[in-house]
Amino acid sequence: MDKIIIAGGKRLSGTIPISGAKNAALTLLPCALLTDEPLTLRNLPRLADIDGFQHLMNQFGVSTTIAGNRPEDFGRVMTLQAPRITSSVAPYELVRKMRASILVLGPMLARMGEATVSLPGGCAIGNRPIDLHLKALEAFGAAIEMAAGYVRAVAPDGGLPGGEFDFPVVSVGATENALMAAATASGTCRLLNAAREPEIVDLCNLLTAMGAQIEGIGTSELTVHGVPRLHGATHHVMPDRIEAGSYACAAAITGGEVFLKGARAEDMSATIHALRNAGVTVEPGKGGLSVGIDGPIKPLTLSTAPYPGFATDMQAQLMALLCKAEGTSVLNETIFENRYMHVPELTRMGAHIETTGRTAIVHGVDRLTGAEVMATDLRASMSLVIAGLAAEGETQVHRLYHLDRGYERLEEKLALVGAAIERVGDD
Ligand code: EPZ
Repeated sequence: MDKIIIAGGKRLSGTIPISGAKNAALTLLPCALLTDEPLTLRNLPRLADIDGFQHLMNQFGVSTTIAGNRPEDFGRVMTLQAPRITSSVAPYELVRKMRASILVLGPMLARMGEATVSLPGGCAIGNRPIDLHLKALEAFGAAIEMAAGYVRAVAPDGGLPGGEFDFPVVSVGATENALMAAATASGTCRLLNAAREPEIVDLCNLLTAMGAQIEGIGTSELTVHGVPRLHGATHHVMPDRIEAGSYACAAAITGGEVFLKGARAEDMSATIHALRNAGVTVEPGKGGLSVGIDGPIKPLTLSTAPYPGFATDMQAQLMALLCKAEGTSVLNETIFENRYMHVPELTRMGAHIETTGRTAIVHGVDRLTGAEVMATDLRASMSLVIAGLAAEGETQVHRLYHLDRGYERLEEKLALVGAAIERVGDD
């Protein structure tokens, strides 16, 4: 198990390459199940979760080949092909390590007419139910049964007849599973109050390139006219808007100025709006985003919300920035029930934060001090790195496997722009 050691106080300056989006890649990979032709994904981030998903796909008999690209490049090209599916079961030992495995349920059901997936269980940020995934598939005509910690979905012989599902709660994953199942249904599927995240649009763009017929892309009302079969495609994974927002917070807290190469401003309007309100200058430029700050960090009051609202995945990172604001900020986490695991660790670095339920009150402080801290979940880990970059003294972040799930070669990228950061074995 590795740890990261940061000597705080260095002003970040230069260009950070932004990788392909983890949360797009994790729903694009299972699309390979929907056809027996090759699916090539470009700009895939090199992440533990992507490796885990590749291994899961191999379990089903999907071949995966990584096309060459230089080790120093970021991103990879992977070609997946599933001429035959050798198993339609996603086993517990794989699913428990990576809950996004649940995203094989819809495409496997579409391909094989049945799918058995271990229930993913909860994680650090919440109990993460999958009831909406199952209700949407049932609305399209699937039979769902649960037994011994597994969920099994079965389609009628002629394929999913189609139907309509109105989501009571916006769910990214359930929208993705429903879309992938609907693409080759024998009828028409309608999704109301569907998630509108850019990653959903990226999925719809890939499915369309494979021959799917989807109306309303980018809106909360999606209509999918099932087609008998889908063909292969080549798709460039969209840039990671959360990685870009995370590095924007890192640059701002150090008083630095960075160019986020490849970041797409149109995916990040709520984050850009929040950063500007916090006194950060954000300028969309040719092929990326310039981020800097020439005054104090200003306090904010904001709530997380489904897209196009402020992303819950950015809450911990923004909180780290606001720890050094001139004033008191109020954050409200409306999506997950336990997404303040970073607060006790930030407090150990000198932050002054009070949490009651889903509300966090962040009293800005003049200085943070380096400390040994523990990563608990992916985005919480990044908030500790951001705080460590601005803290006086040395910060050690333990349990880096959390970070490796979502940030491609983080210490290399931060070192590129002047951070005093190194990764060492954690004895
Ligand atoms: C996706 O998770 C992302 N993960 C999460 O990113 C992100 O935080 C989340 O969407 C919200 O944007 C991936 O894309 C792999 P949801 P997902 O279904 O799909 C409730 C990260 O840090 N809900 O949109 O699991 C749920 O409890 C990760 O990169 C149900 O009640 O999120 C939550 O309160 C963390 N029943 C809310 O909906 C369900 O069946 C939103 O969850 C499904 C969800």
